[in-house]
Formats: sequence, C-alpha cells, structure tokens
Amino acid sequence: MSDFVRIVEVGPRDGLQNEKAMVATADKIELIDRLSQTGLRSIEATSFVSPKWIPQLADAAEVFSAIARKPGVAYPVLVPNEQGYERARAVGAEEVAVFTAASEAFNRRNTNAGIDESIERFRPVLARAAADGVKVRGYVSTVLGCPYQGEVPVTDVVRVASRLHELGCYEISLGDTIGVGTPHKARAMLEAVAAEVPMPALAVHFHDTYGQALANILACLEAGVRVVDAAVSGTGGCPYAKGASGNVATEDVVYLLHGMGMQTGIDLPRLGETGRWLAGLLGRETGSKVAKALAAA
Ligand code: HMG
Ligand code: MG
Repeated sequence: MSDFVRIVEVGPRDGLQNEKAMVATADKIELIDRLSQTGLRSIEATSFVSPKWIPQLADAAEVFSAIARKPGVAYPVLVPNEQGYERARAVGAEEVAVFTAASEAFNRRNTNAGIDESIERFRPVLARAAADGVKVRGYVSTVLGCPYQGEVPVTDVVRVASRLHELGCYEISLGDTIGVGTPHKARAMLEAVAAEVPMPALAVHFHDTYGQALANILACLEAGVRVVDAAVSGTGGCPYAKGASGNVATEDVVYLLHGMGMQTGIDLPRLGETGRWLAGLLGRETGSKVAKALAAA
C-alpha cells in the first residue's frame, strides 16, 4: 500500500460556498494562488452552479480565469449540469466534479431533483467530458446520514457510487455532508463501496460537525483509502444541508499523515499560514488546531 496520500483541497469551493458575507473575487484568487504554493496537487477552485442557489460563487468565471494555474496541479470545479459544464469549459477548466447523494431527500433540497434525475442531468456532461479529454470526479453526499431522511442505508451509497464510476467518473468522493459519522461506520461504508469500486478510485470527504473527522479519516486510511478531501482552516458546509458545519481542516489532516510517516508533498507551515490568512479575512480564528499550535510554537 502506497504511503502517498493525495489531498483534494476544497476550501475555495466547499469552504467558501457556505460563507454568508461575500468574499471579494480578488481574495478568492489570492487564496487559490497561495494554496498553489503549498505543494497541494489538487485544488477545487470554484463552482459553476446556479448563482441563484449559491450567490457566493457567482464570480466563478472571473476567479477561474484569473488564477495562476501551476503546472502539475489540478483545479477541478463543481458543475451540476451541462450549462455549468459549458461555463467551466469557456474559461478553460480541465477537470470538473459532478455531485449527487445517497439520500433522495437531501438531493432534492440541494439540486431540485431526485438522485436518478440529477444523474440524467449530468450524463451529457460525462459524454462531452470524455470527448473533450476532461477528467470528471463524482461526489456522493450524505453517505453516513441525512439531515432530512436520517439513516442512509449503505446499499444506497454503494449503488450511487457504482453508478458514477460506471458512467466514467475517475474518482468518487464519499461525503459525510453533515459530519455525523463515526470511525467503524465510516470504515464499513468505505469497505462496502470498495467491494464494487476499486479503492484507488475512492476518496473520503468528512465534515467535522461532531468532531469525528480525523478519527474517521484514520479508520478509512487503515482500510486503504489514499485520497482525502479537506478545507484549509476548516471552513465549509452546504447551505442546503441543515446542521452541516466545516470540513476537516487540511492542516490537521496533513499533520496526522506526516506524523504517521505518510507523504503528501505539502509544506505544512506554509499551509498553516495560508489558513490563518484566510481566517483573518473571514474575521475569525483559524478552524485548524494544528495551525493555532504552529503559530504559538
Ligand atoms: P433549478 O432551479 O431546478 O434549475 O436548479 P433549472 O434548470 O430549472 O434552471 C433555473 C435557472 O438557473 C435558470 O435561469 C437557469 O439558466 C439557471 P433563469 O432562466 O431562471 O434565469 N441555471 C444555471 N445558471 C448558471 N449555471 C448553471 C445553471 N443551471 C441552471 N450551472 C440546479 C437546479 C442544479 C442548477 C440548482 O439546484 C443548483 O445550482 N444547485 C447547486 C447547489 C449547490 O451548489 N450545493 C452545494 C454543493 S454540493 C456540496 O456541497 C456537497 C459536497 O461538498 C460533498 C458533501 O459534503 O457531501 C460536494
Ligand atoms: Mg462538502
């Protein structure tokens, strides 16, 4: 089993989409440019969803056009439908991410469509991406619980993840959207999906609402996952998921991994500095314990 873990930094998208106060376009650009200098290999830059649904990211095209894309770094963007794909391609996106959920009730609130309907909406995205040589990542939300439905059967997670993989997503990110999971459940869910979709094509995406994210990540690393989503400074959440709070902080994940002798290619002090800069911008303390400790050391 490889000791390299690829972190997918989702702060500029998942982190900012839940911020009430508008973040200036120039600050979003600076955030991504700073993150590009930390050794991250994958930075989810923004989201080409409906600006009526996510006003904070209405400037997606301006942001994506202005960032300094570093060779060797992927800058995926979220797209819900063909219209989003076209907007993303118009500014040169080379990787997109589509998203649906394991819970019907959540998916309706988040995308105004049932699970199957949302897949039908992005089916043309996958076809066009294949023809254009664009990589597509897939997200499955509410894999360990739903704010509207409650329990989510693991069989539903497996079914939706397998479907996205069959349709051509090169990687499926399993999202604990509201951060209710605990380690044994997280591992069992991951292993059930890995029986159908190869482990190297899986990623985990934990929100830290109940403080379980690092423990869940450790359990999933032990089961073999090697791609982890996280947001610098622990920002984030989905406005259509009641009770959702920040993503696990990237700094904390990197500290955990390096402490276990695993590699990420990331410069942790530099990342911590970026997280503290972002927190300052948002008018709060960093959400990363590691970044706080590094600043005090
Ligand atoms: P709808 O209202 O059903 O869409 O929304 P529609 O097709 O009927 O279109 C309505 C209007 O939106 C039209 O404009 C369209 O042109 C426009 P109008 O004619 O009224 O002026 N529109 C768009 N505009 C720009 N870009 C587009 C686009 N599509 C339609 N791509 C839709 C359906 C999916 C668009 C909407 O529900 C939506 O945008 N939802 C996104 C919600 C969202 O972004 N949630 C957060 C991301 S998911 C997440 O955070 C979870 C994750 O982190 C993993 C985890 O934690 O679990 C990924
Ligand atoms: Mg999320």
